[in-house]
Amino acid sequence: MARILVTGGAGYIGSHTVYFLRKRGHSVVVVDNLSRGDRANVPEGILRVVDLRDTARITSILKEERCEAVIHFAAYISVGESTKAPELYFANNVGGSSSLFEAMQQAGVNKLVFSSTAAAYGNPPRVPITEDQPIAPINPYGDSKVMVERMIELLDRYRGFRSIRLRYFNACGAEPEAGLGERHDPETHLIPLVLRAVLTGEPVTVFGEDYDTPDGTCIRDYIHVSDLAEAHIKAVEHLLYNGADAVFNVGTGLGHSVREVLSAVETVSGRKVPYVSGPRREGDPPRLVADSQKLQRTLAWKPVRADLERIIADAWQFARKLGT
Ligand code: UFG
Repeated sequence: MARILVTGGAGYIGSHTVYFLRKRGHSVVVVDNLSRGDRANVPEGILRVVDLRDTARITSILKEERCEAVIHFAAYISVGESTKAPELYFANNVGGSSSLFEAMQQAGVNKLVFSSTAAAYGNPPRVPITEDQPIAPINPYGDSKVMVERMIELLDRYRGFRSIRLRYFNACGAEPEAGLGERHDPETHLIPLVLRAVLTGEPVTVFGEDYDTPDGTCIRDYIHVSDLAEAHIKAVEHLLYNGADAVFNVGTGLGHSVREVLSAVETVSGRKVPYVSGPRREGDPPRLVADSQKLQRTLAWKPVRADLERIIADAWQFARKLGT
């Protein structure tokens, strides 16, 4: 089993990945500056509170902990915020990554799994989306991830880095038994907002009901965070066993509309979802669904928690524990 550094391990997807890595017997060190992550998401003793831009500290952690590979989550993730303050995304997402890669180079660690995004495709010409579709982000968040992907390609070529880039779709769900789930501040994601509406009675807004989709609302590929975590584990183990560099989409291949999400929440919770209709949210593509055949074939990964009601049941259990 390997020693793995996880950046952003106190965040939503990072913390689930840390949980499953340890369950599998890997030894994990988390670096997180806690600017958006939560200390409570990380088991005692494995968290180092440090900013990725502190290249010297990251280098010594990699060396002292004898890390063999890095899984890199740490990033800001809000599309809306990125359009208002792109420089934050350059500094944190791009600058943080560049510093991390320099530290890896200095510490002699060359295996990297990178958390990328479906936002790399912008408004894709064809759905389901395969990895060879044009890269055309439509917001600075997506651009920041694409810039880092490009750096990684260059490091693969010129520095012998070995990397897997995972472009994932809509992460959701929870691992309530482990006390882990989705809790962003401010929350902008659909499922936690709908669950909050059920719990508080404050209506959620449906952003646009006039899209060219069967019920007029946007379609997304909702992937359970624990399935996503398993994809990272497969990816890092593939690199540890000297597998080839690659980029993979991670999704279920199933598209669900906003209305379908609302009705699945009603089924799971047994309560009505209070909602109001609102205008379209700027920058929302009508339909994003992954073709993740390449990942399934290459790494023998399967989304085993793909059922929407299953996803929502886990998220609902976590939201009820949280109380809002
Ligand atoms: N939505 C609503 N009301 C809300 C929130 C969302 O109707 O209050 C709708 C959105 O319009 C969208 C769907 O629910 O159609 C999903 O929205 P999310 O904000 O939950 O997720 P996004 O699809 O916008 O974003 C996700 C990731 C991003 C990533 C993006 C790729 O969270 O990190 O996919 O396009 F960039």
